[in-house]
Amino acid sequence: MHFVVEPSALASGAVSVPGDKSISHRALILGGIADGRTDISGFLPGEDCLATLAALRSMGVSIDRVSDTRVSVDGCGSDGLHVPPGPLDMGNSGTAMRLFAGLLSGQSFSSKLIGDASLSQRPMNRIIDPLTSMGAQIDSSDGKPPLLISGERKLSGVVYQLPVASAQVKSAILLAGLFAEGEITVIEPATTRDHTERMLRAMGVDIRTGETQIVMPGGQRLTGAKVNVPADLSSAAFIILASAIASDCEVTLVGVGVNPTRTGVINILRSMGADISLDNVRLFGEEPVADIVVRSSELHGIDVDPAMVSLAIDEFPILFIAAAMAKGKTSFSGIGELRVKESDRIATMAQGLRILGIDVDETDDGAVVHGGVISGGSVKSHGDHRIAMSFAVAATRAGWPVRIEDTAAVDTSFPGFVDCLRSLGVGINSFVDDEIGVSV
Ligand code: S3P
Repeated sequence: MHFVVEPSALASGAVSVPGDKSISHRALILGGIADGRTDISGFLPGEDCLATLAALRSMGVSIDRVSDTRVSVDGCGSDGLHVPPGPLDMGNSGTAMRLFAGLLSGQSFSSKLIGDASLSQRPMNRIIDPLTSMGAQIDSSDGKPPLLISGERKLSGVVYQLPVASAQVKSAILLAGLFAEGEITVIEPATTRDHTERMLRAMGVDIRTGETQIVMPGGQRLTGAKVNVPADLSSAAFIILASAIASDCEVTLVGVGVNPTRTGVINILRSMGADISLDNVRLFGEEPVADIVVRSSELHGIDVDPAMVSLAIDEFPILFIAAAMAKGKTSFSGIGELRVKESDRIATMAQGLRILGIDVDETDDGAVVHGGVISGGSVKSHGDHRIAMSFAVAATRAGWPVRIEDTAAVDTSFPGFVDCLRSLGVGINSFVDDEIGVSV
C-alpha cells in the first residue's frame, strides 16, 4: 500500500485517536494470567495488539471481543496457560515479543516466538541477559528472533540494572518475576513508561516504585480488574503536530493519555513554540488523561534535552518533522535507540527529509535538522508505521503532493489514520499496490 497526500489546510475541530498500544498489550497479558475477569474498554484493535490477543488465545485464554474496542478476558490464573499448538507469531511487535519472553520464561512448557522481517532483525539480548540471570533459558538466532524459550525452569529473584532505558525490558523482568522465588529489583538509567507497574498494582500485586527503581516480591498472583485504556498520546502526536504547523486552526484531541512518563513530546513541542494546552485533566482508571488543545503556531529550532528521550521515545520521527518546519536548526542527541526500532528511524527520517528538500546531518546517536521548506516527492517508510505517518503530516505543508511507500504497517498502531486526517480536511488517499508497486 502507499499514501498520496496533498498539501492541505486543516480545519478546526475535535478528533479522537485510538487506544494506547502499550496499555492494550498489558491489559491483555496481565488479564490473561489473572484470576477472574478483566474487562477492557478503549482497547486498540491494531495489528500489534491483535497478535498479543491471538497468542494468548492459542495458550487457552478465553477472550471475548465484545466490540472493536471492548474486550473481556477470562484470566486463567498464573498456572493456567497451556502449551501453544505452534510458534507464537508476534508480527511487527517488539513489545509483544519482549513481554511474552518474560511471561513464557516462567511457564512449565517450552515455546517459540517468531516475528515479521522487521522484528526478526531487532535486538533481543537486552531481555535474554536479565531473564537468563533469573534462571530462564532462551535460545535465539545470534541475539535476534526467533526465540526458543525452555519450560520447567526455576526462576529466582534478581537485582538488575538496565543498561538501556527500556520499558519493554523492565516489563519482561517483572512478568518473569511473577513466576520467580525471591525479590525482583529493577534499576533504570532513566524513567520509562510505567504502565506495567500501575496495572500490576491495580490487579493487587505488591510493587514499590521510586523514580527509577522498582521492587517487587516474586511469585505473586493477580486479580482481574476493569481497565480503561486512554487514547494513545503516541498516535495523537501526529495530529498535534499537523495542527501546530497548519495555519489558523484549533484542534482538540479528546481523552488522551498524559501519563508523565509519556509526555516528553508535549514538553519538547512547547519548547519549540507550539501552543498546546491540557484541559480537563482527570484520572481514567490508573492513568491520567486530558483533552489536548492545539493551536497553530510558529515553531523554532532548539537543542532537544536528552533527559526527554525516554519520555518521548516513539515520537522522534514526528519531532523530526517539527524540526523541519521550525525556524533554525534543531539538534537531537542521545537517541541511538531509534536505530533499533521498527526501522533505523534516524536513517529513515534523514533519508526521507532530504528527498523533501530538508538538510539533515546525521550522527551515531542523533541528528541536526535544518528547518526549511518542504518540497514534494516520493519517500520510503521502510514499512515503519511511525515513519509513514510522520511523512503524511509533513506532506500537509509540502509544496506539492508527497507519495509515501509501504504504508500497510500504519494499521499496527493507528487503524483509521487516513480517516482521521481526512476528517480534518487533509487530502490523503491510500492505494493498494499491484505486484510491481503501481496503484490499482
Ligand atoms: C513500549 C516501550 C518502548 C516503545 C514501544 C512500546 C512498551 O520501547 O518504543 O513502542 O510498550 O513498553 P522500549 O521500552 O524498548 O524503548
